[in-house]
Amino acid sequence: MKIDWENIPTIHAKRVSLRQFAASDADAVYEIYADPAVMRYWGDSPLVNQRGAKDFLVEAREDLRRRQCIQWGIARRSDNRLIGTIAFFKLDALARKAEIGFALGRNHWGMGYMQEALQAALGYGFSELDFRRIEADVDPRNVSCIKLLERLGFEKEGCLRERWLVDGETQDSLFYGLLKKEWNNTGAGYQVVSGLPRPKPAAISFRARLMDSRLGRWAAVMLGWLH
Ligand SMILES: CC(C)(COP(=O)(O)OP(=O)(O)OC[C@H]1O[C@@H](n2cnc3c(N)ncnc32)[C@H](O)[C@@H]1OP(=O)(O)O)[C@@H](O)C(=O)NCCC(=O)NCCS
Repeated sequence: MKIDWENIPTIHAKRVSLRQFAASDADAVYEIYADPAVMRYWGDSPLVNQRGAKDFLVEAREDLRRRQCIQWGIARRSDNRLIGTIAFFKLDALARKAEIGFALGRNHWGMGYMQEALQAALGYGFSELDFRRIEADVDPRNVSCIKLLERLGFEKEGCLRERWLVDGETQDSLFYGLLKKEWNNTGAGYQVVSGLPRPKPAAISFRARLMDSRLGRWAAVMLGWLH
């Protein structure tokens, strides 16, 4: 796996870009993740306030800093407006594999934007990051997601029963996998644009650094940042 964590690039597909988040994306993040239709099979409850969207952006930056997850915003190229998100997580350097997760704001469904974004992310994952295998965990009732994965060549590999419990409701998982050797990249037109350097340690938020220390965690509890 060849990840340059300091320079996660922007990737252009035909109509959408995969790009780093900006603080100004908070409203768009809220619009996506507060929508019960988007969150129906997500494994988390919908956001209930703008604070949740801001926390999402902080977490995405922290996951990158901790080298846990590569997450991009999906932006329309015509106006750079954030319409969705896409992430590689559960990164496994030894097995050269990762899981992929994605969501699109409801107003943008049915236009092929996610197919484009996924083709770009998969192409980048297999070619540039040298993944051998990419996995996806899908609720069996999430028909549009299953159609999309199968259209891209993912194979259904198994069912894990009642794997999740979300708001008191159990959810099964269908496990899908795509191998590099099976990946048909003919439809994957994408262009990697140089990465934005991630913030230097000194620029990482005071709050994030504080939370990393034991004293900081105690202080955070006192300040009501942690429960
Ligand atoms: C899953 C999800 C991303 C699918 O979005 P989507 O818009 O249906 O996906 P696509 O980008 O593949 O769009 C495909 C549809 O656009 C249509 N389309 C229009 N123009 C197109 C184009 N230029 N290229 C391809 N498809 C196009 C296709 O006909 C297709 O319609 P169909 O599904 O009726 O056959 C979306 O429903 C979502 O965000 N759900 C909530 C979050 C979620 O569940 N994520 C998955 C968790 S693993």
